[in-house]
Amino acid sequence: MNGTGAAASPRDPAAEPAAVRCAVAAWLDWLAAMGVDCCLETVGAASSAASEAERVEPAPAEPSRPSPIGRLAEAGPVVGARELARSCRSLDELIRALESFELCPLKATATRLCLSDGNPAARVMLVGEAPGVEEDRQGKPFVGPSGKLLDRMLATIGLDRSRVYITNTVFWRPPGNRAPTALELATCLPFLERQIELLQPAVLVFVGGIAAKALLGASDGVTRLRGRRFRYEPGGGRPAIPAFVIFHPAYLLRQPMQKKLAWRDLLQLSEELRRLGIETGPPRFLPRGGATAEHAS
Ligand code: URA
Repeated sequence: MNGTGAAASPRDPAAEPAAVRCAVAAWLDWLAAMGVDCCLETVGAASSAASEAERVEPAPAEPSRPSPIGRLAEAGPVVGARELARSCRSLDELIRALESFELCPLKATATRLCLSDGNPAARVMLVGEAPGVEEDRQGKPFVGPSGKLLDRMLATIGLDRSRVYITNTVFWRPPGNRAPTALELATCLPFLERQIELLQPAVLVFVGGIAAKALLGASDGVTRLRGRRFRYEPGGGRPAIPAFVIFHPAYLLRQPMQKKLAWRDLLQLSEELRRLGIETGPPRFLPRGGATAEHAS
């Protein structure tokens, strides 16, 4: 009943569950913080975000043919990488192994190894694409403009670098920020897979479609992969790990209207973390840190 004694109509904001109102308020704050300043649709995206978050899909069908990366499994550098990665018993050993590994051609043109950042004990592991200029300089993933946006995205669902571990599909910067080749991806893959085996995250987040190509053998683009829940099979009899694909922040810097979908994906991830009992901090909305589309790496 409302103050007039009449029954509350379904459109009465006072009758909406607090969680929905809270999600709508957070969504609007997030859009404003991300620089979205106009509305092109009148339908409520937040409520469809909530229902999309509930609609999780099973693992994709096994690819009928090996992916371009899978087809390189017996190439010399890939075999060498696999043997070396398997021999690593800790993250430190893996770092030392990569420092002496000479079979990935990217190493010749990069300044330094750029393997990971964040907390190796975190239950959430993010896998991006490839280091850019700033990452190559600092030796840490996602520290350039797209990393700043990634930090702001994570903050909206109470995550920061103390609560996630971040790595990439390749560990040296491709020259001129070009996309990594299938051979470069295949050569780094054993080290990526070994990181997952060693650190045993509870959730994987593929930042952009390349990581999903490498780790799931997916052939679809990111727009078809996002919004779904996959299962990454780590092998060795270990249980499957839930995996999500989100838009790469460099893409969002170029296509800001897609932030609406990115927000839905973050809500879906947040819901999965809650379901798995993974602790997060309070949602935060970080000020913009100079990330611009022009300088996206
Ligand atoms: N883009 C990525 O995918 N990874 C980085 O580390 C930086 C930019």
